[in-house]
Amino acid sequence: MHTYRAAPDVDVVTTTAEVTGFGNLAINAFVIHAAEPVLVDTGAVRDSDDFMRALRSVIDPADLRWIWLTHTDFDHIGSLQRLLEENERLRVITSFLGVGIMSLAAPLPMDRVYLINPGQSVEVGDRTLTAVRPPAFDNPITTGLRDQRSGILFSSDCFGALLDEVPERAEDLSDAALRQGQVFWATVDSSWLHTVDRAVFASELDRIRALEPSMVLSSHLPAAQGSSIERLLAALAEVPDAPAFIGPDQAALELMLAG
Ligand SMILES: [Fe+2]
Ligand SMILES: [Fe+2]
Repeated sequence: MHTYRAAPDVDVVTTTAEVTGFGNLAINAFVIHAAEPVLVDTGAVRDSDDFMRALRSVIDPADLRWIWLTHTDFDHIGSLQRLLEENERLRVITSFLGVGIMSLAAPLPMDRVYLINPGQSVEVGDRTLTAVRPPAFDNPITTGLRDQRSGILFSSDCFGALLDEVPERAEDLSDAALRQGQVFWATVDSSWLHTVDRAVFASELDRIRALEPSMVLSSHLPAAQGSSIERLLAALAEVPDAPAFIGPDQAALELMLAG
């Protein structure tokens, strides 16, 4: 777990998960140093102690005012409850479905929730954050966001990539590594993309292109400059026709265990 600065007012709190046989996956959360500071996601459940340590190196959690929970997967909710207990002013921005799913594990206090749908915005002091539904996702709760002041798009799982090495900048990856890593990740994480109408999906990608993001900060990709957006969109456009991911079966598992 470590941190790096992706933009003048955004720190990345990150670790890497090794997916044996398939590569390495960045697991990112982001601190937006707004007038009302925002934490975008809270790391993986297994990493909570390390996450809190790393988070404290870039901000005092008592100064946070908002958590933007992009969705409730285990790699995004790791320190959510802990942060809510530590800081009574903190509120959680998420969708109605996010609150519903959390009610089955660790219910969110309703007076500390801020419900949002795509297209709606939240004011966080010196800037407006607008909810954006990314074109690929693994969970219907998913709500990314655009910081209207900086133009940065926080895309949640979308644009993630399984990589041999995880640098801090997507621009340090070769075109091939980025493309292959991104296509493979999307076939795993958003396998429904194989069934989409290609024209409709292309218009979904155009919707993101039209945002002209100054940066793309994905939960599972090194920080990407806006100038990389065409590379990111082109890789995603390949996914509907890429080979479907089929996981190892029992015979493969027994071979691995025997090895
Ligand atoms: Fe996810
Ligand atoms: Fe994720």
